[in-house]
Amino acid sequence: GPKAMIGPSILNSDLSMLYDESEKMINSGADYLHLDVMDGHFVPNLTFGHPVVKCLRQKIPKSFFDMHMMVANPEKWVEAMADAGANQYTFHIEASKDVPDLCRKIKEAGMKVGIGLKPGTDVSVVLPYGPLADMLLVMTVEPGFGGQKFMADMMPKVERLRAEFPLVNIEVDGGVSPANIDQCAKAGANMIVSGSAVVKSPQPAEVISQLKQAVQK
Ligand code: DX5
Ligand code: ZN
Repeated sequence: GPKAMIGPSILNSDLSMLYDESEKMINSGADYLHLDVMDGHFVPNLTFGHPVVKCLRQKIPKSFFDMHMMVANPEKWVEAMADAGANQYTFHIEASKDVPDLCRKIKEAGMKVGIGLKPGTDVSVVLPYGPLADMLLVMTVEPGFGGQKFMADMMPKVERLRAEFPLVNIEVDGGVSPANIDQCAKAGANMIVSGSAVVKSPQPAEVISQLKQAVQK
């Protein structure tokens, strides 16, 4: 299947030191950075937007930025995020009015397309759009906050998507740690987001390496 990659989420790190925390993750073996954008509408929380991403990009020229757009109007931020230096734009299918059109806009802006599913959204909703996506995201917590408990009952969604789309990246996000990575890997996920388990650890390189080994085997 597609390459195994670990993308730490810096949501629960010290956001007053976003650059240092991001560098620490990259130096600890992160394959990409998962950046959580929340607008207080699609989810009951706020984080940061494209101005912050643009500054981070100026200090980190090379890393892959996976934007997890937990926003009510994903159409609205495509241009700004591309201009800020985002590499992948992952929107939620629940928030999009016209999925094929949004996919086309993201590609035209030069970014890869990710489509995300909240825990309550049936996997069948995304099946027609799989061929338009570079990545399909199965949320393993209710989006909005880091540090929640992993929902193992989302694994059948991952299995189904892997069976339908053998070449597409499948990402899991929410409560992922060395304690449950085997389930994610077995189901077929290859892009692994891990927040608290990595950034709260005194040895993030160890955790990233454990996660990667589990997905690679
Ligand atoms: C949740 C975010 C996740 C989350 C990951 O809304 O999309 O990226 O912060 O953090 P952990 O691994 O702590 O759940
Ligand atoms: Zn996320």
